[in-house]
Amino acid sequence: MTDVETPIYLDHHATTPVDGQVVEEMVPYFTEEFGNPASKDHIYGNNAKMAVEKGRERISEAINARKEEIIFTSGATESDNLAVRGVAEHAVVNGQGNHIITTVIEHEAVLEVCDALEEEGFEITYLEVDEYGRIDPSDVEAAIREDTVLISVMAANNEIGTIAPLQQIGQIAKENEVYFHTDAVQALGYVPIDVEEMGIDLMSLSSHKIYGPKGIGALYVRRRNPKVKVQTLIEGGGHERGMRSGTLNVPGIVGFGKAVQLAERNRDERVEHVETLRTRLWKRFDDELDEIALNGEPGNRLPNNLNVSFLGVENKGLVQNLQPQIAVSAGSACTTGKVEASHVLQALSDNESRWHSAMRFGLGKDNTKEEIDFVADQVITAVTRLRKITLS
Ligand SMILES: Cc1ncc(COP(=O)(O)O)c(C=O)c1O
Repeated sequence: MTDVETPIYLDHHATTPVDGQVVEEMVPYFTEEFGNPASKDHIYGNNAKMAVEKGRERISEAINARKEEIIFTSGATESDNLAVRGVAEHAVVNGQGNHIITTVIEHEAVLEVCDALEEEGFEITYLEVDEYGRIDPSDVEAAIREDTVLISVMAANNEIGTIAPLQQIGQIAKENEVYFHTDAVQALGYVPIDVEEMGIDLMSLSSHKIYGPKGIGALYVRRRNPKVKVQTLIEGGGHERGMRSGTLNVPGIVGFGKAVQLAERNRDERVEHVETLRTRLWKRFDDELDEIALNGEPGNRLPNNLNVSFLGVENKGLVQNLQPQIAVSAGSACTTGKVEASHVLQALSDNESRWHSAMRFGLGKDNTKEEIDFVADQVITAVTRLRKITLS
Protein backbone atom coordinates (compact mmCIF):
# COMPACT_ATOMS: atom_id res chain seq x y z
CA MET A 1 0.00 0.00 0.00
CA THR A 2 2.86 2.34 0.74
CA ASP A 3 6.48 2.64 -0.26
CA VAL A 4 7.23 4.14 3.12
CA GLU A 5 8.49 1.52 5.55
CA THR A 6 8.46 3.32 8.87
CA PRO A 7 5.67 5.69 9.86
CA ILE A 8 6.45 9.25 8.84
CA TYR A 9 6.91 11.53 11.80
CA LEU A 10 5.45 15.00 11.37
CA ASP A 11 4.83 15.86 15.01
CA HIS A 12 8.09 17.62 15.88
CA HIS A 13 6.36 20.26 18.02
CA ALA A 14 5.37 17.46 20.40
CA THR A 15 8.84 15.98 20.62
CA THR A 16 11.86 15.07 18.49
CA PRO A 17 14.09 12.01 18.29
CA VAL A 18 17.40 12.34 20.12
CA ASP A 19 20.23 13.14 17.72
CA GLY A 20 22.92 10.45 17.44
CA GLN A 21 25.67 12.92 18.39
CA VAL A 22 23.68 13.87 21.49
CA VAL A 23 23.29 10.23 22.55
CA GLU A 24 26.99 9.67 22.05
CA GLU A 25 27.94 12.49 24.42
CA MET A 26 25.40 11.36 27.01
CA VAL A 27 26.30 7.67 27.24
CA PRO A 28 29.41 7.91 29.48
CA TYR A 29 27.38 9.87 32.04
CA PHE A 30 25.13 6.88 32.62
CA THR A 31 28.03 4.52 33.14
CA GLU A 32 31.63 5.33 34.11
CA GLU A 33 30.99 9.05 34.81
CA PHE A 34 28.02 8.51 37.11
CA GLY A 35 29.07 10.95 39.84
CA ASN A 36 26.86 13.44 41.62
CA PRO A 37 27.96 16.97 40.69
CA ALA A 38 27.31 18.03 44.28
CA SER A 39 29.98 15.57 45.56
CA LYS A 40 32.84 18.02 45.83
CA ASP A 41 35.40 15.73 47.44
CA HIS A 42 36.26 13.27 44.70
CA ILE A 43 36.92 12.92 41.01
CA TYR A 44 33.54 11.34 40.20
CA GLY A 45 31.73 14.36 41.53
CA ASN A 46 34.17 16.79 39.92
CA ASN A 47 33.86 15.20 36.50
CA ALA A 48 30.08 15.30 36.69
CA LYS A 49 30.24 18.93 37.80
CA MET A 50 32.49 19.78 34.85
CA ALA A 51 30.04 18.15 32.45
CA VAL A 52 27.13 20.08 33.95
CA GLU A 53 29.01 23.36 33.66
CA LYS A 54 29.89 22.64 30.04
CA GLY A 55 26.20 22.09 29.29
CA ARG A 56 25.31 25.27 31.11
CA GLU A 57 27.90 27.18 29.12
CA ARG A 58 26.65 25.90 25.78
CA ILE A 59 23.09 26.90 26.60
CA SER A 60 24.04 30.33 27.93
CA GLU A 61 26.18 31.07 24.87
CA ALA A 62 23.30 30.25 22.54
CA ILE A 63 21.07 32.91 24.08
CA ASN A 64 23.72 35.48 25.03
CA ALA A 65 23.31 34.88 28.74
CA ARG A 66 25.78 34.27 31.55
CA LYS A 67 26.42 30.72 32.69
CA GLU A 68 25.13 31.35 36.19
CA GLU A 69 21.80 32.58 34.77
CA ILE A 70 20.83 29.07 33.60
CA ILE A 71 18.80 27.04 36.12
CA PHE A 72 18.25 23.41 35.18
CA THR A 73 14.74 21.99 35.60
CA SER A 74 12.88 18.83 34.60
CA GLY A 75 11.51 20.51 31.47
CA ALA A 76 9.71 23.59 30.29
CA THR A 77 6.54 22.82 32.24
CA GLU A 78 8.56 23.21 35.41
CA SER A 79 10.41 26.23 34.00
CA ASP A 80 7.12 27.98 33.21
CA ASN A 81 5.81 27.17 36.69
CA LEU A 82 9.00 28.45 38.31
CA ALA A 83 8.97 31.63 36.26
CA VAL A 84 5.34 32.59 36.74
CA ARG A 85 4.65 31.31 40.24
CA GLY A 86 8.19 31.97 41.42
CA VAL A 87 8.05 35.65 40.41
CA ALA A 88 4.47 36.05 41.63
CA GLU A 89 5.09 34.57 45.06
CA HIS A 90 8.29 36.54 45.59
CA ALA A 91 6.65 39.78 44.50
CA VAL A 92 3.59 39.42 46.68
CA VAL A 93 5.61 38.58 49.78
CA ASN A 94 7.66 41.73 49.17
CA GLY A 95 4.62 43.92 48.56
CA GLN A 96 5.51 44.64 44.93
CA GLY A 97 2.13 43.80 43.47
CA ASN A 98 -0.05 40.94 42.37
CA HIS A 99 -0.90 41.61 38.71
CA ILE A 100 0.34 39.48 35.79
CA ILE A 101 -0.09 40.05 32.05
CA THR A 102 -0.17 37.09 29.69
CA THR A 103 -2.00 36.06 26.52
CA VAL A 104 -4.89 33.74 25.72
CA ILE A 105 -2.68 31.56 23.47
CA GLU A 106 0.00 30.59 25.99
CA HIS A 107 0.89 26.99 26.70
CA GLU A 108 -1.08 25.31 29.51
CA ALA A 109 2.07 25.36 31.65
CA VAL A 110 1.61 29.13 31.88
CA LEU A 111 -2.19 29.35 31.66
CA GLU A 112 -2.89 26.79 34.36
CA VAL A 113 -0.46 28.47 36.76
CA CYS A 114 -2.15 31.81 36.06
CA ASP A 115 -5.56 30.26 36.72
CA ALA A 116 -4.34 28.83 40.01
CA LEU A 117 -2.78 32.15 41.01
CA GLU A 118 -6.03 33.92 40.18
CA GLU A 119 -7.83 31.65 42.61
CA GLU A 120 -5.25 32.57 45.21
CA GLY A 121 -6.01 36.27 44.76
CA PHE A 122 -3.68 37.39 41.96
CA GLU A 123 -5.08 39.43 39.11
CA ILE A 124 -4.35 38.24 35.60
CA THR A 125 -4.86 40.12 32.34
CA TYR A 126 -5.19 37.72 29.40
CA LEU A 127 -4.42 39.64 26.21
CA GLU A 128 -6.32 38.72 23.05
CA VAL A 129 -4.54 38.06 19.75
CA ASP A 130 -5.60 38.87 16.20
CA GLU A 131 -6.73 36.35 13.56
CA TYR A 132 -3.09 35.34 12.91
CA GLY A 133 -2.25 34.86 16.58
CA ARG A 134 -0.35 38.13 16.78
CA ILE A 135 0.00 40.12 19.99
CA ASP A 136 -0.09 43.87 19.68
CA PRO A 137 2.75 45.32 21.81
CA SER A 138 0.63 48.41 22.49
CA ASP A 139 -1.93 46.14 24.20
CA VAL A 140 0.86 44.93 26.47
CA GLU A 141 1.79 48.49 27.30
CA ALA A 142 -1.82 49.50 27.91
CA ALA A 143 -2.32 46.59 30.32
CA ILE A 144 0.57 47.53 32.61
CA ARG A 145 -0.46 48.83 36.03
CA GLU A 146 1.33 50.01 39.16
CA ASP A 147 1.03 46.53 40.62
CA THR A 148 2.10 44.56 37.52
CA VAL A 149 4.95 42.21 38.38
CA LEU A 150 5.28 40.03 35.29
CA ILE A 151 4.59 39.92 31.56
CA SER A 152 4.59 36.36 30.17
CA VAL A 153 4.36 36.02 26.38
CA MET A 154 5.51 32.95 24.49
CA ALA A 155 8.20 33.42 21.81
CA ALA A 156 6.56 31.17 19.21
CA ASN A 157 3.26 29.37 19.48
CA ASN A 158 3.38 25.57 19.64
CA GLU A 159 0.21 25.11 17.60
CA ILE A 160 0.26 27.77 14.90
CA GLY A 161 3.91 28.86 14.98
CA THR A 162 3.25 32.59 15.15
CA ILE A 163 6.33 34.43 16.40
CA ALA A 164 5.89 37.18 19.01
CA PRO A 165 7.50 40.64 18.84
CA LEU A 166 9.87 39.83 21.71
CA GLN A 167 12.13 42.82 21.34
CA GLN A 168 9.26 45.30 21.44
CA ILE A 169 7.66 43.63 24.44
CA GLY A 170 11.04 43.46 26.17
CA GLN A 171 11.53 47.17 25.66
CA ILE A 172 8.09 47.99 27.05
CA ALA A 173 8.79 45.75 30.04
CA LYS A 174 12.12 47.54 30.69
CA GLU A 175 10.61 51.01 30.38
CA ASN A 176 7.96 50.06 32.91
CA GLU A 177 10.28 48.07 35.18
CA VAL A 178 8.23 44.89 34.90
CA TYR A 179 9.85 41.46 34.50
CA PHE A 180 9.44 39.84 31.09
CA HIS A 181 9.17 36.04 30.83
CA THR A 182 9.00 34.17 27.55
CA ASP A 183 8.40 30.49 26.86
CA ALA A 184 10.86 29.95 24.02
CA VAL A 185 10.49 26.17 23.81
CA GLN A 186 9.40 26.10 20.17
CA ALA A 187 11.50 29.07 19.05
CA LEU A 188 14.85 27.71 20.22
CA GLY A 189 16.87 26.49 17.25
CA TYR A 190 14.64 28.25 14.73
CA VAL A 191 14.55 31.87 15.86
CA PRO A 192 17.72 33.66 17.02
CA ILE A 193 17.30 34.62 20.68
CA ASP A 194 19.40 37.18 22.46
CA VAL A 195 18.22 37.87 26.00
CA GLU A 196 20.14 41.16 26.15
CA GLU A 197 18.94 42.57 22.88
CA MET A 198 15.39 41.40 23.49
CA GLY A 199 15.15 42.53 27.11
CA ILE A 200 14.16 39.08 28.34
CA ASP A 201 14.35 38.52 32.11
CA LEU A 202 13.19 34.90 32.33
CA MET A 203 13.03 32.29 29.58
CA SER A 204 11.81 28.68 29.54
CA LEU A 205 13.63 26.12 27.40
CA SER A 206 13.17 22.41 26.81
CA SER A 207 15.62 19.86 25.46
CA HIS A 208 13.29 17.32 23.83
CA LYS A 209 11.98 19.76 21.22
CA ILE A 210 15.47 20.25 19.74
CA TYR A 211 16.73 16.67 19.38
CA GLY A 212 17.82 16.38 23.01
CA PRO A 213 16.57 13.99 25.70
CA LYS A 214 13.26 14.33 27.54
CA GLY A 215 13.01 15.29 31.19
CA ILE A 216 15.48 18.15 31.12
CA GLY A 217 14.88 21.85 30.61
CA ALA A 218 16.09 25.19 31.83
CA LEU A 219 14.94 28.53 33.06
CA TYR A 220 17.07 31.53 32.22
CA VAL A 221 16.90 33.97 35.14
CA ARG A 222 18.56 37.36 34.63
CA ARG A 223 21.08 38.24 37.34
CA ARG A 224 21.99 41.81 36.36
CA ASN A 225 20.00 44.86 35.24
CA PRO A 226 17.85 43.84 37.03
CA LYS A 227 18.60 40.88 39.31
CA VAL A 228 15.39 38.89 39.00
CA LYS A 229 14.03 37.45 42.24
CA VAL A 230 12.23 34.13 42.12
CA GLN A 231 10.71 32.15 44.97
CA THR A 232 11.83 28.53 44.72
CA LEU A 233 9.12 25.92 44.26
CA ILE A 234 11.26 22.90 45.18
CA GLU A 235 12.99 23.08 48.55
CA GLY A 236 15.87 20.85 49.49
CA GLY A 237 19.65 20.91 49.31
CA GLY A 238 19.79 24.35 47.70
CA HIS A 239 21.00 23.29 44.27
CA GLU A 240 20.93 25.72 41.34
CA ARG A 241 21.60 28.79 43.49
CA GLY A 242 18.77 27.82 45.79
CA MET A 243 16.22 28.16 43.01
CA ARG A 244 15.70 24.48 42.26
CA SER A 245 16.81 21.78 44.64
CA GLY A 246 17.42 18.21 43.57
CA THR A 247 20.33 16.17 42.25
CA LEU A 248 21.08 17.31 38.74
CA ASN A 249 20.22 15.11 35.75
CA VAL A 250 23.79 14.92 34.47
CA PRO A 251 23.28 12.85 31.28
CA GLY A 252 20.23 14.99 30.48
CA ILE A 253 22.17 18.21 30.91
CA VAL A 254 25.04 16.90 28.78
CA GLY A 255 22.56 15.95 26.05
CA PHE A 256 20.64 19.21 26.31
CA GLY A 257 23.88 21.21 26.00
CA LYS A 258 24.95 19.26 22.93
CA ALA A 259 21.50 19.57 21.36
CA VAL A 260 21.52 23.35 21.84
CA GLN A 261 25.00 23.59 20.38
CA LEU A 262 23.95 21.62 17.30
CA ALA A 263 20.69 23.55 16.94
CA GLU A 264 22.56 26.86 16.92
CA ARG A 265 25.37 25.66 14.70
CA ASN A 266 22.99 24.19 12.12
CA ARG A 267 20.16 26.67 12.47
CA ASP A 268 20.32 28.21 8.98
CA GLU A 269 20.51 24.83 7.31
CA ARG A 270 17.65 23.39 9.40
CA VAL A 271 15.46 26.44 8.82
CA GLU A 272 15.97 26.28 5.09
CA HIS A 273 15.29 22.55 4.97
CA VAL A 274 12.03 22.57 6.93
CA GLU A 275 10.82 25.74 5.25
CA THR A 276 11.30 24.22 1.80
CA LEU A 277 9.38 21.11 2.83
CA ARG A 278 6.66 23.14 4.51
CA THR A 279 6.16 25.22 1.33
CA ARG A 280 6.04 22.04 -0.73
CA LEU A 281 3.36 20.50 1.49
CA TRP A 282 1.23 23.65 1.65
CA LYS A 283 1.42 24.11 -2.13
CA ARG A 284 0.03 20.64 -2.69
CA PHE A 285 -2.89 21.29 -0.32
CA ASP A 286 -3.51 24.72 -1.75
CA ASP A 287 -3.38 23.52 -5.37
CA GLU A 288 -5.46 20.39 -4.92
CA LEU A 289 -8.00 21.09 -2.20
CA ASP A 290 -10.77 23.64 -1.80
CA GLU A 291 -12.02 24.99 1.49
CA ILE A 292 -8.79 24.99 3.43
CA ALA A 293 -7.46 27.70 5.73
CA LEU A 294 -3.94 28.38 6.94
CA ASN A 295 -3.82 28.97 10.69
CA GLY A 296 -1.13 31.30 11.97
CA GLU A 297 0.71 34.27 10.56
CA PRO A 298 1.65 33.50 6.95
CA GLY A 299 4.95 35.39 6.99
CA ASN A 300 6.21 35.45 10.54
CA ARG A 301 5.86 31.89 11.70
CA LEU A 302 8.09 29.01 12.73
CA PRO A 303 9.60 27.49 9.57
CA ASN A 304 8.68 23.95 10.64
CA ASN A 305 5.03 24.65 11.39
CA LEU A 306 2.07 24.15 9.10
CA ASN A 307 -1.35 24.35 10.73
CA VAL A 308 -4.21 23.89 8.29
CA SER A 309 -7.95 23.58 8.69
CA PHE A 310 -9.54 21.22 6.18
CA LEU A 311 -13.02 22.65 6.54
CA GLY A 312 -15.78 20.11 6.95
CA VAL A 313 -13.39 17.35 8.01
CA GLU A 314 -13.18 16.48 11.68
CA ASN A 315 -9.47 16.55 12.60
CA LYS A 316 -9.54 13.57 14.98
CA GLY A 317 -11.09 11.45 12.23
CA LEU A 318 -8.49 12.59 9.73
CA VAL A 319 -5.66 11.72 12.11
CA GLN A 320 -7.15 8.24 12.55
CA ASN A 321 -7.45 7.86 8.80
CA LEU A 322 -3.75 8.50 8.36
CA GLN A 323 -2.76 5.75 10.80
CA PRO A 324 -0.41 3.94 10.97
CA GLN A 325 1.60 5.58 8.22
CA ILE A 326 1.65 9.21 9.27
CA ALA A 327 2.21 10.60 12.76
CA VAL A 328 0.61 14.01 12.82
CA SER A 329 -1.38 15.95 15.38
CA ALA A 330 -4.84 17.40 15.63
CA GLY A 331 -3.58 19.91 18.13
CA SER A 332 -0.88 20.13 20.73
CA ALA A 333 0.20 16.90 22.42
CA CYS A 334 -0.38 18.46 25.79
CA THR A 335 -4.07 18.93 25.12
CA THR A 336 -4.81 15.54 23.65
CA GLY A 337 -7.15 13.68 25.90
CA LYS A 338 -9.29 16.78 26.23
CA VAL A 339 -12.06 16.82 23.67
CA GLU A 340 -12.68 20.54 23.43
CA ALA A 341 -11.19 22.51 20.55
CA SER A 342 -7.78 24.05 20.95
CA HIS A 343 -7.80 27.29 22.94
CA VAL A 344 -5.36 28.72 20.40
CA LEU A 345 -7.65 28.07 17.42
CA GLN A 346 -10.57 29.44 19.40
CA ALA A 347 -8.64 32.65 20.00
CA LEU A 348 -8.15 33.23 16.26
CA SER A 349 -11.70 33.09 14.97
CA ASP A 350 -15.33 32.30 15.78
CA ASN A 351 -15.49 29.75 13.01
CA GLU A 352 -16.11 26.47 14.85
CA SER A 353 -15.56 24.39 11.75
CA ARG A 354 -12.08 25.86 11.54
CA TRP A 355 -11.32 24.83 15.13
CA HIS A 356 -12.44 21.25 14.67
CA SER A 357 -10.71 20.66 11.34
CA ALA A 358 -7.27 22.01 12.24
CA MET A 359 -4.26 19.77 11.72
CA ARG A 360 -0.74 20.55 12.85
CA PHE A 361 2.15 19.34 10.70
CA GLY A 362 5.41 19.75 12.59
CA LEU A 363 8.38 19.22 10.31
CA GLY A 364 11.86 18.17 11.33
CA LYS A 365 15.43 18.14 10.10
CA ASP A 366 15.28 14.51 8.99
CA ASN A 367 12.07 14.64 6.96
CA THR A 368 12.53 14.20 3.22
CA LYS A 369 10.80 15.44 0.07
CA GLU A 370 9.62 11.90 -0.61
CA GLU A 371 7.95 11.77 2.79
CA ILE A 372 6.28 15.12 2.23
CA ASP A 373 4.96 14.00 -1.16
CA PHE A 374 3.60 10.82 0.37
CA VAL A 375 1.93 12.78 3.19
CA ALA A 376 0.41 15.22 0.68
CA ASP A 377 -1.01 12.31 -1.37
CA GLN A 378 -2.45 10.59 1.68
CA VAL A 379 -3.95 13.70 3.26
CA ILE A 380 -5.50 14.90 0.02
CA THR A 381 -7.03 11.47 -0.60
CA ALA A 382 -8.32 11.18 2.97
CA VAL A 383 -9.79 14.69 3.03
CA THR A 384 -11.54 14.12 -0.29
CA ARG A 385 -12.92 10.77 0.90
CA LEU A 386 -14.05 12.07 4.29
CA ARG A 387 -15.77 15.05 2.68
CA LYS A 388 -17.66 12.72 0.34
CA ILE A 389 -18.78 10.56 3.29
CA THR A 390 -19.99 13.63 5.16
CA LEU A 391 -21.95 14.81 2.12
CA SER A 392 -23.55 11.45 1.35
C1 LIG B 1 5.42 26.11 24.15
C2 LIG B 1 5.64 24.98 25.11
N1 LIG B 1 5.86 25.23 26.39
C3 LIG B 1 6.05 24.26 27.29
C4 LIG B 1 6.04 22.94 26.92
C5 LIG B 1 6.27 21.89 27.95
O1 LIG B 1 7.59 21.42 27.83
P1 LIG B 1 8.09 20.09 28.56
O2 LIG B 1 7.56 18.96 27.77
O3 LIG B 1 9.59 20.20 28.52
O4 LIG B 1 7.57 20.13 29.94
C6 LIG B 1 5.80 22.62 25.58
C7 LIG B 1 5.70 21.20 25.17
O5 LIG B 1 4.74 20.77 24.60
C8 LIG B 1 5.60 23.66 24.65
O6 LIG B 1 5.37 23.42 23.36
